[in-house]
Amino acid sequence: MALSTDLGERRSVLVTGGAGFLGSFLSEELLGRGHDVLCVDNFYTGMKRNIEHLLDNPRFELLRHDITFPLSVETDQIYNLACPASPIHYQYDPVQTTKTSVHGAINMLDVARRTKARILQASTSEVYGDPTVHPQREEYWGNVNPLGPRACYDEGKRCAETLFFDYRRQFGLSIKVARIFNTYGPRMRPDDGRVISNFVVQALKGDPLTIYGDGSQTRSFCYVTDLISGLIALMDSDDEITGPINLGNPVEFTMRELADLIIDLSGSRSAILHQPLPEDDPRQRSPDIARARETLGWEPGIALRDGLRTTIGYFEELLSLGVNAGTGSQ
Ligand SMILES: NC(=O)c1ccc[n+]([C@@H]2O[C@H](COP(=O)([O-])OP(=O)(O)OC[C@H]3O[C@@H](n4cnc5c(N)ncnc54)[C@H](O)[C@@H]3O)[C@@H](O)[C@H]2O)c1
Repeated sequence: MALSTDLGERRSVLVTGGAGFLGSFLSEELLGRGHDVLCVDNFYTGMKRNIEHLLDNPRFELLRHDITFPLSVETDQIYNLACPASPIHYQYDPVQTTKTSVHGAINMLDVARRTKARILQASTSEVYGDPTVHPQREEYWGNVNPLGPRACYDEGKRCAETLFFDYRRQFGLSIKVARIFNTYGPRMRPDDGRVISNFVVQALKGDPLTIYGDGSQTRSFCYVTDLISGLIALMDSDDEITGPINLGNPVEFTMRELADLIIDLSGSRSAILHQPLPEDDPRQRSPDIARARETLGWEPGIALRDGLRTTIGYFEELLSLGVNAGTGSQ
């Protein structure tokens, strides 16, 4: 039975994907704010070491479960984060990726419907596809190739958004949709193929940094703790604020600038290696966060240089423990 979604009360919160990169930081922050956390994860990309330090906390519970199957639990709030987020992982089993986004959303929305819990969807900037407008505002409907190798993720997330708004219209659910842009920080997987983990691992190993294309494509990078405070602000906002709301850092960097910064901060002597651009790789992506600023009073505060220092420190420790790494898409 749901207790209440009022601010300031101890709540029981379900975090799907809670053993992943973002989910583990979110769980930690929610525990820190005095809530009970039920972490649901099938460990597809999540890591036990991400939540090891939470296991002794009596307010933290871990349930190994695949959200493509129905779940019956009691909760006040649901953060639906379960889904592989890096192209290497979501393209490995694209059918499962779509199932996780679509069946998973239905199953979690059904939990919310039964328990009257508020539910937040971790959507993505990928719903904009290869955008034709910059920066992307929430009104933009996107430019997604429904047949390409990224479609299992992009279209799955788009369908999940549709389901969220249909459950609100049809059943009166309290919903929140966050469109998350590139986020980075400690606990990213070294083998997840995303640009920051790739570059950092390559720099620390002294390998060449792989830039796809000429390096002039841009991305914006949000540090993980900034993102988590945005997600919680959205969850705790007034009921009529449903989103979608872009959450990300609007400051853009070219891949070349990012590579140079990481080489500099890690004290690496790595060279730079250019390789062909993968299919459907967006040239530019940055959020317009005016809506988040106005409705949530939220904006990121951590500069790339500072976030990278912490991230490099984390990967240094991971590599010293012998955890291996690979490379992939940006
Ligand atoms: N990190 C980013 O930059 C970013 C950007 C946009 C959107 N997002 C979204 O945020 C969420 C979290 O991303 P992340 O970077 O932490 O990724 P992650 O891969 O580290 O975490 C995803 C977690 O979900 C779990 N999971 C996957 N499929 C599952 C299933 N069927 N049932 C139960 N658990 C399952 C994984 O084991 C993992 O712990 C994802 O939904 C992702 O799409 C992330």
